[in-house]
Amino acid sequence: MANTLTGKHILLGISGGIAAYKSAVLCRELIKRGADVRVVMTPSATRFITPLTLQALSGHPVQHDLFDAEAEHGMGHIDLARWAELILVAPATAQAITRLVHGQADDLLCATVLASSAPLCVAPAMNRGMWDNPATRDNIAVLHERQVHVLGPAEGDQACGEHGPGRMLEPEQLAEQVELLFADAVLQGVKVVVTAGPTWEAIDPVRGLSNRSSGKMGYAVAQAASRAGADCILISGPTRLTCPQGVTRINVSSARDMAEAVQAEMNDCDIFIAVAAVADYRPVTPQDEKIKKDSEYLNLELVRNPDILASVASGEPRPYTVGFAAETRNLETYARQKLVSKQIDLIAANPVAGENSAFDSDDNELLLIDKASTLQLPRASKPVLAHQLIKEIAKRYGSR
Ligand SMILES: Cc1cc2nc3c(=O)[nH]c(=O)nc-3n(C[C@H](O)[C@H](O)[C@H](O)COP(=O)(O)O)c2cc1C
Repeated sequence: MANTLTGKHILLGISGGIAAYKSAVLCRELIKRGADVRVVMTPSATRFITPLTLQALSGHPVQHDLFDAEAEHGMGHIDLARWAELILVAPATAQAITRLVHGQADDLLCATVLASSAPLCVAPAMNRGMWDNPATRDNIAVLHERQVHVLGPAEGDQACGEHGPGRMLEPEQLAEQVELLFADAVLQGVKVVVTAGPTWEAIDPVRGLSNRSSGKMGYAVAQAASRAGADCILISGPTRLTCPQGVTRINVSSARDMAEAVQAEMNDCDIFIAVAAVADYRPVTPQDEKIKKDSEYLNLELVRNPDILASVASGEPRPYTVGFAAETRNLETYARQKLVSKQIDLIAANPVAGENSAFDSDDNELLLIDKASTLQLPRASKPVLAHQLIKEIAKRYGSR
């Protein structure tokens, strides 16, 4: 994906969090992909990393003082606001997010954002307590409502010694996300239905059968489809993920719920992408009351669930149909068998064995198989793979 940002004007805003040291690498990542990067910092950010570092990396003077007459005489904040094709605030502190939400303009970065009509991305970075605080949660909800692209945060070890959500995404991941925002509208006006996540097959009111699917791949595919201009419906089993911007989500629980929701969307569906890990079997008689552990053995009788993918592929009208295959072995052979037996157009096979398992991972690899070709999409983050997959689907859909 080299040079996908060629000539794009990206304004990198840096606020005063400990992750500011990573903004230097982010600046380089964006430039490596061809972007023209200008940097604006909050006064607090200059306490964490020097403007000189960012000036040397971006090749442009770095501004941080709203009242710097000399800087305003050059490319002032209104000119910067007009120049930017995209603004990325990374890291975005809890404080900077609050100011952005309230439209405050008392520092150069927030004043520039307020004056700009460019798409805004923020990469939150803060201690997990700050991230979980209702004040921050409310602010983030407002950003979502305003179609601001909230990138991350990631979960993991934090500089303060705690562990949890609030880490800034890595510079490479942020650069990848920015690339996706400039992606071509290859599915403009096309209706795409995506299924994602696991299903839940009740045994009794508190227990059930499910699987290890996190929904991340399906959500990434829905997001990529929407960014490619599609009218995207996401039919999701139980996950803890946030619905991507621009996507309409329908929540379901069991395989039968999912089958019903899918059928209801098939009339005008152009492309169907089945990413969900649908349970093959469900208990024959789920109990109304919690089962007591009175006996040593408990037999569960299971019955086959409807095959959503096969029924879409054999239905009328029939969309361009894409299936996912998750296999622990013989990936290509089993995937090819599935392509033929279910009569689908394209299959994306991913390995789910060992340490490279796609389940609940942030990255994945895909083997795309159709009647005419086999294409390997090498290991990458799920949003990047989803973007590549959507491009491949659009190519094949367009030449049907
Ligand atoms: C050592 C140190 C690290 C900090 N790290 C963060 C951080 O990661 N995220 C955050 O939201 N605030 C962090 N803060 C607090 C911010 O620096 C503070 O809220 C500041 O007012 C942010 O200003 P700005 O948003 O204008 O850049 C940190 C403060 C200190 C002293």
